[in-house]
Amino acid sequence: MKPVTFNCTVLRDGHQSLAATRMQTKDMLPIAPILDTMGFSALETWGGASIDAGLRFLKEWPFDRLDALKKAAPNTPHMMLLRGQNLVGYTNYADDVVEAFVKMSAKHGMNIFRIFDCVNDPRNMQTSIRAAKEAGAQAHGTICYTTSPVHTTEGFVKMGCELADMGVDAIVIKDMAGLIPPYVTYELVSALKKNLSIPVWIHTHDTAGLGAPTYLSAIDAGVDACDVSISPLANGTAQPDCLRMQALLNGSPRQPNYDQAKLAQISEMLMPIYEDMNKFTSHRNEVVDSDTLRYQVPGGMLSNFRTQLKEQKMEDKFEEVFAEIPVVREALGWIPLVTPTSQIVGVQAMMNVKFGRWKRITPQAADVALGYYGRTTAPVDPEVQKLCAEQMGKDPITCRPADLKKPDMENLRKQLADKGLPTDDEHCVIYAMFPQQVEEYYKKPEPKPEAPVEIKSAAPAAPAMTVIDNGISATVSGPSGNRDLTIVINGQAHSVKVERIG
Ligand code: CO
Repeated sequence: MKPVTFNCTVLRDGHQSLAATRMQTKDMLPIAPILDTMGFSALETWGGASIDAGLRFLKEWPFDRLDALKKAAPNTPHMMLLRGQNLVGYTNYADDVVEAFVKMSAKHGMNIFRIFDCVNDPRNMQTSIRAAKEAGAQAHGTICYTTSPVHTTEGFVKMGCELADMGVDAIVIKDMAGLIPPYVTYELVSALKKNLSIPVWIHTHDTAGLGAPTYLSAIDAGVDACDVSISPLANGTAQPDCLRMQALLNGSPRQPNYDQAKLAQISEMLMPIYEDMNKFTSHRNEVVDSDTLRYQVPGGMLSNFRTQLKEQKMEDKFEEVFAEIPVVREALGWIPLVTPTSQIVGVQAMMNVKFGRWKRITPQAADVALGYYGRTTAPVDPEVQKLCAEQMGKDPITCRPADLKKPDMENLRKQLADKGLPTDDEHCVIYAMFPQQVEEYYKKPEPKPEAPVEIKSAAPAAPAMTVIDNGISATVSGPSGNRDLTIVINGQAHSVKVERIG
């Protein structure tokens, strides 16, 4: 039996899960060359929330980080997490934008595109899979693991086979919530290995303490690679740490051999960086969180919710809102909880509790119900779909959502030109997802007075651009003083500063 290999997530999911994606490129650069000598099957260095957070909070140009890390670690394949047709944004983009984004990323050195879709619809992954292959990179077809009455091992294997038929180079089980139990993992990995001839990889989180035993089961069942991180940016809501996983495999013929002295050296280097990010870290993320098992939601969603319910003065409704989550998921075809569906389901559950079930529906939840995010695993509740159609004034669709999108690259180029910003493909694709952040990135650094922010409540028939008070996901930066809020309007995230007065 050949040893399992590990992918190292410390430069992406490690700090995304434990430090709100705030690790800076300058802090990564001394570590990258050491990681590069260790024989990891991949270094996860980009994608997920790292592009949004890097641009928004760290004022780093996304491709600059990729270039710098590629230069610092040229020998190990670089890997990124890509949300299929949603790229690293929160809504569907046109095919030509998806193609250009993948092509640019590959040009800057990305080797492995780990592609998933938030409703597990392979049609939303086909353009990025094809683009990755065309760019000479690897496309990994990713299955979002979730539990529901309609999700079965057979269903996940069927999806794996569909992705294999689309030409992916490996299948990845993505357990974003850290909820897959070890024996279920054994069954799923065994079934995938039996039915597929391509490698099977697994990604989980140690949020509820299941991560390491889950990996052991996966390894026993023949998984080819597991994602690990390095302490202190490991364990808790992140991936199990490399050293612990290796120690757990003592006596196994599949134990890999990663240099313990180098792991210790990297840990030492990470300690002060982790300390520096203490504004964004939380003890709660570091310990076993059984609430995530109780509520069956990702840890990140739990912590966002605690903040949001507090802001809405709905703390006493915590249990009620969490009981509403499966109700919303069922009505919306049992969609998984992963970006952006975790936010969509969470906000809708909150609105159902606040205003009455389906009395107010967010445009995003309505779009899910109407098929604009793709085909859900189970059918959408017809009553809810009817309400959504009436509210949005549009019919449900069954086609691949991006088939309705016109090419957008030239339009984006024109918008950039009008603003006097660079108009190359790289800028077009980032601007498509983060227009305001791109503009801010190019603004002169002198501070200008902030415009007052008005947050209105949306009546059901409100125009599409109204900010809805319940649609806010807030990130509190610092214990007091001003706060940075991220407001998501129609799937586009906008940053606003809100001053604390009272
Ligand atoms: Co993850």
